[in-house]
Amino acid sequence: MELQTATEGGPSCETPKRRRNDNSVTPIDIKDKLIGHTVGAEPNGLSLRSSTATHADMNTEILRVDPTVPEPAIIAKAADYLRTGRLVAFPTETVYGLGANALDPEAVRSIFAAKGRPASNPVIVHVAEPSQVVNVAAQWPETAAQLAAKFWPGPLTIVVPKKHGVPDEVTAGGPTVAVRCPNHVVARELIRVAGVPIAAPSANRSTELSPTRAEHVFKSLNGRIDLILDGGPCAGGIESTVVDVTGPVVRLLRHGLITVPMLEEVVGLVDLPSRGYEPLGSVARSPGQMAKHYSPRTPVVLAQDADAEHQRLRDAGFRVISVGFDLIWDYRFISNDPAEYATDLYAILHELDEAGFDRIVIELPPDTPEWAAVRDRLTRAAAMS
Ligand code: TXA
Ligand code: MG
Repeated sequence: MELQTATEGGPSCETPKRRRNDNSVTPIDIKDKLIGHTVGAEPNGLSLRSSTATHADMNTEILRVDPTVPEPAIIAKAADYLRTGRLVAFPTETVYGLGANALDPEAVRSIFAAKGRPASNPVIVHVAEPSQVVNVAAQWPETAAQLAAKFWPGPLTIVVPKKHGVPDEVTAGGPTVAVRCPNHVVARELIRVAGVPIAAPSANRSTELSPTRAEHVFKSLNGRIDLILDGGPCAGGIESTVVDVTGPVVRLLRHGLITVPMLEEVVGLVDLPSRGYEPLGSVARSPGQMAKHYSPRTPVVLAQDADAEHQRLRDAGFRVISVGFDLIWDYRFISNDPAEYATDLYAILHELDEAGFDRIVIELPPDTPEWAAVRDRLTRAAAMS
């Protein structure tokens, strides 16, 4: 199906000048929630500024928002920020996103600056309703329609030909755009009220672990972004599945919560890297897929036999903690259900990363389709470069 081309530069493309707005919503004090960060209160005791912020050195406000019935005043304030070119971190069902108006090149550039992300890595555009893909997509192939009908709103990102007018900053200069309709009331309300599609990578510094809680975002981006909406923990826990539907066969670009068998039930056989597809070019290959990504600072070691690896490292003098289902040596329990494992993985790694260990040993889950996304993230967490 070919989409009607929406008017370029219509009302939704307006990018008003940045301005600070005064709003009566009160930021909460999250100092008690922070681990390992020195923060100093502003004179009014409400805004926080990191004493270690060196980059943008701006105040990062945190507003708690009800994850199921978001307060309209808070959504209105955050939406206003987005419309005026500022950055807002918000919860989705996968991980927290760092949002900017996708039609404002300057705002999108500031995402890259805040994250330290290479400009060659394109970002996902989030829409409030599936019907809004017309604002960014030039075509919506039948497979895209089938996948969206089945999995949206939800943790699936669909790469399609981009509409003229989507800034190069979003697509890394490529001909395609990645689109997702998230399944989180706060995210959807925010996008709906902002009235513009929202470009949002995960709300963390480049290569670091993705955030599944507001405090993870704060730890990574304090002083670099304007606002964090704290909607509590993300249920999904790892990033969306990314598929490219621009070719004759749907191609998997990133494993995620929508598994390959789930995709194949809808569109038939999917092209997988492990099935040996030929990369078409840097953008089609999903440049976010460099080996080292989603990594804690503490080195991660993956092992079939985590206890044996733990013992070996401990004997070599390292302070070691393991992560697994049923181990002997000091370990952090994680569920042996793939969905529950995904929900908890990053939060556990964030926590262990703060705890001063020399090595984190992780028991490798089985090599089966339902574990593919978790194994993918574990492999990247363990990659040295
Ligand atoms: O669950 C998620 O997907 C989260 C939430 C916030 O929505 N977002 C997220 O964004 O994980 P990010 O930027 O961390 O990962 C986006 C992935 C990267 O691997 C990027 O290379 C790929 O999507 N991507 C974005 N645009 C693309 C395009 N036009 N073609 C191919 N890959 C693309
Ligand atoms: Mg990311």
